[in-house]
Amino acid sequence: MNEHTLSMRLERVAAHVPAGARLADIGSDHGYLPVALMRRGVIASAVAGEVATTPFHAASRTVRENGLEPHISVRLADGLAAIEAADAITAVSLCGMGGETIRDILDRGKACLSGRERLILQPNGGEQPLRQWLMDNGYRIVCEELLRENRFYYEIIVAERAEAVTYSAEQLYFGPLQMQARSPEFLAKWQRLLRQKHKTLASFELARQAVPQDKVQEIAQQAKWITALLAVSKLPQA
Ligand SMILES: C[S@@+](CC[C@H](N)C(=O)[O-])C[C@H]1O[C@@H](n2cnc3c(N)ncnc32)[C@H](O)[C@@H]1O
Repeated sequence: MNEHTLSMRLERVAAHVPAGARLADIGSDHGYLPVALMRRGVIASAVAGEVATTPFHAASRTVRENGLEPHISVRLADGLAAIEAADAITAVSLCGMGGETIRDILDRGKACLSGRERLILQPNGGEQPLRQWLMDNGYRIVCEELLRENRFYYEIIVAERAEAVTYSAEQLYFGPLQMQARSPEFLAKWQRLLRQKHKTLASFELARQAVPQDKVQEIAQQAKWITALLAVSKLPQA
């Protein structure tokens, strides 16, 4: 992967960045996403934010080598602190981090958001608490995608501020739009996770030390939800 050829995961993230956007890519690492989008003429400008010095220098190098310093600002900053009001950011991407980390970055940096930005989030796990934060903070999920690359499943969640929306516990767990779409990747992911939940429950039974009841109940509830989800998807189409 480089600024010319993105991974399939980042390519799918890129597809959700609106044409002409002023993008803040937070946790940009090498800066491949904003540089690729700028080279393709998709975005108008970008901020690449990094909290760690090694990726900050890597992003600075990618931007410099592509002659994009006038259009992409690379900033060493924690989360959304990389964004300045004058940037007039219209899209924020947070990719390749745990869902809880993305949630915490959004929560700590709320003051840096105008509410008009499209959020393009690609969590590695922890999707449920991230969706919970989006709902609690007045965001509607406008698009969701699930893809498989190198044996891993990746989710992309696109959200925009909208009138209050309420998601059920199951929608927060599976993703409201993915539950509707029931793509083959989605069903395969949850079949795999159901097998894992059953293994976990079996290991709890064999555990020498008692597993806290709330933990057992949480996994049992999830297994029930997944079983119900997969059962519905087996019904013949009307
Ligand atoms: C695994 S990399 C993902 C890079 C790229 N976004 C991608 O999806 O390929 C995660 C990056 O997020 C950065 N990061 C983690 N916490 C951050 C924070 N609070 N603010 C800015 N960057 C952060 C890390 O330094 C790391 O470079």
